[in-house]
Amino acid sequence: MIILKQESEIEQMRKGGRIIARFFQEVRELIKPGVPGDEIDEFARKFITSNGGYPSFLNYRGYPASICLSINDEVVHGIPFGKRIPEVGLVKIDVGVKYGCCHVDSAFTFVVGDIPERAKKLVEITKKALEEGIKAAKKGNRVSDISRAVEKTVKPYKFGIIRKLVGHGVGFDLHEDPEIPNYVSRKAYDPILKPGMTFAIEPMITLGTHKIKEMPDGWTIKTADGSWAAHFEHTVAITEKETIVLTSPQD
Ligand code: MF3
Ligand code: CO
Repeated sequence: MIILKQESEIEQMRKGGRIIARFFQEVRELIKPGVPGDEIDEFARKFITSNGGYPSFLNYRGYPASICLSINDEVVHGIPFGKRIPEVGLVKIDVGVKYGCCHVDSAFTFVVGDIPERAKKLVEITKKALEEGIKAAKKGNRVSDISRAVEKTVKPYKFGIIRKLVGHGVGFDLHEDPEIPNYVSRKAYDPILKPGMTFAIEPMITLGTHKIKEMPDGWTIKTADGSWAAHFEHTVAITEKETIVLTSPQD
């Protein structure tokens, strides 16, 4: 069931989104070789709470940290503790904030050191796929229009599109309906986008296979073939007038 949000609720999500946007601007300083994940997680928790929010991921289904820190072949849901930023690689940070009624969710891929050209392309195209997905997230379109825009952007490059993990409605809960796949799925449920809908679009794209494996920690998801992955995510709101990207830097 899709839960539509009132304007006042979207306003609170906008405030949570601002906290996330500013977090991503400031955390950049910490994405340097050797910096411990523990330190980045602590920075996130303090930054979020001192701005009046709560880190959505902390204790979510028992998740132990405030952010996900996923490096190279770790696609998503990497636990930040006991690891460090590498000399060279792709560093993904995923963060959620609850502010007032609602959650917002966003992720970014940072490049560290001198990565191969093909990996640079992966990051560029994953980011572009999110942008194209957002452009397709218009009142009156369907979820599959977003999926198609993401898939179409990635396809010419022959990267892997992860299918087992998808974007999602977000608001009163961190994960709500509908699912937002990054490929056109045949599933019957393909809702029309309506004012009041709020959801996260999050392409997860790899240099190799679309297949994933779960690690014994019960959280970390890696690519099955060890290839590197990129991930970008924004939470958007559909309104009468426009689509608002809640987690991108605003005035
Ligand atoms: N942003 C993540 C997602 O949509 C949420 C991670 S929840 C956590 O899948 F508990 F794993 F952190
Ligand atoms: Co998400």
